Amino acid sequence: MARAEDGIRGYVIGFVTPTGTGYVHLIATRDDARGTGLGRRLYAAFAQAARRQGAQRLKAITSVGNTGSIAFHRSLGFGTQIVEDYDGPGRPMVVFGRPLPPEGAVW
Ligand SMILES: CC(C)(COP(=O)(O)OP(=O)(O)OC[C@H]1O[C@@H](n2cnc3c(N)ncnc32)[C@H](O)[C@@H]1OP(=O)(O)O)[C@@H](O)C(=O)NCCC(=O)NCCS
Repeated sequence: MARAEDGIRGYVIGFVTPTGTGYVHLIATRDDARGTGLGRRLYAAFAQAARRQGAQRLKAITSVGNTGSIAFHRSLGFGTQIVEDYDGPGRPMVVFGRPLPPEGAVW
């Protein structure tokens, strides 16, 4: 959670699977905080926490039309893949993946 004097500016929610994937379920920054690097800092914080839990890679998904999320994840070095039927028959999703950056790496 990114908190400031004027309230919550952003948050990231995720977990680490037993097979070592740090999965980001939700990440969002407040409209007036976007483009300031906060999303990148939230990912870096998640990566650090996930590493402590034994994660070796990161994963997230988004809808095919979420061009902002796709551009954001590409900027953070994620590979992207459209997986047909990910969410059931005829429901594709974009799947992002990347190895966990080394400890102390700047995102
Ligand atoms: C996606 C989101 C979290 C990005 O947060 P942010 O704080 O604006 O991201 P940052 O400022 O840290 O940007 C990091 C990089 O991503 C790029 N980026 C972020 N949003 C972008 C957009 N809409 N279009 C193009 N590039 C974008 C930035 O240019 C930056 O690139 P750079 O560092 O190479 O210059 C934010 O736009 C958001 O909350 N969106 C709505 C919720 C959502 O779609 N979440 C993702 C669901 S999977």
